[in-house]
Amino acid sequence: MEPPDDKTVRFQINGRSHEGTRGESLLAAIRRHGYEVPSLCYHEAVSPYGACRLCLVEVKRGRRQKLTTSCNYPLQEGIEVFLDTDRVVRHRRTILQLLLAMAPEAEELRSLAAEYGVEDTPFVTDEEHADNACILCGLCNRVCNEVVGAHAIAFAGRGLHKRMESPYDDVAEACIGCGACVFVCPTSCIGIEETEQMRRILKWHRDLPMQKCAACGRPFAPTFQIMHFADKIGVERSHFDRCPDCR
Ligand code: SF4
Ligand code: SF4
Ligand code: FES
Repeated sequence: MEPPDDKTVRFQINGRSHEGTRGESLLAAIRRHGYEVPSLCYHEAVSPYGACRLCLVEVKRGRRQKLTTSCNYPLQEGIEVFLDTDRVVRHRRTILQLLLAMAPEAEELRSLAAEYGVEDTPFVTDEEHADNACILCGLCNRVCNEVVGAHAIAFAGRGLHKRMESPYDDVAEACIGCGACVFVCPTSCIGIEETEQMRRILKWHRDLPMQKCAACGRPFAPTFQIMHFADKIGVERSHFDRCPDCR
């Protein structure tokens, strides 16, 4: 049977027929149909990057069946997807061990690993990552670039020395302190501190003074963030003199 229109495709998940949109992320389609596939570097608000490799599935197209990451695999007509084959589970366990070597204390990672019976890692913990638990998933960078538009942080170095950091690992001057990267980081390794006077984004060495509401005096957001958003949406900066409650 032909699919109903150009955009809609039919495909199978674990032997059951489903429909999705041509070219959409296979992971998104799988989840929309109620199946679970783990991921640490995927977020629907930003482009997929394929870094953590936890979203592995097997895809059969014609006579060929291969292991692939699903977050950055564009959905196609007629593919058959297998979520939990022995090969998938075996590879996923190894990936979890590798990630645990990078971030042995990260809670979300540890609990995901435990679901696969992985409590520890045989791999040597990378000293460069030992104190910051970054798994190089790139989510912070993509959120900062694609959603916030601040372009404050980036990957630096190569191979074993690759890391996510502020320019020259110095103060991220372009960081507006919105906290979006902190929110999406799967290992909670960026760090944010807030006082009445200051919001501090620890990993990017960025301190931002807080704006106090002209009416109630409550600090409600970093001044720099407010100016950035006011300019972006084209309203007077004075519109943000008051907090949302007093506006
Ligand atoms: S807190 Fe700074 S680095 Fe993080 S998303 Fe916001 S602007 Fe970007
Ligand atoms: S800091 Fe967090 S979000 Fe950014 S690359 Fe590292 S693990 Fe991913
Ligand atoms: S979620 Fe697909 S590689 Fe990380």
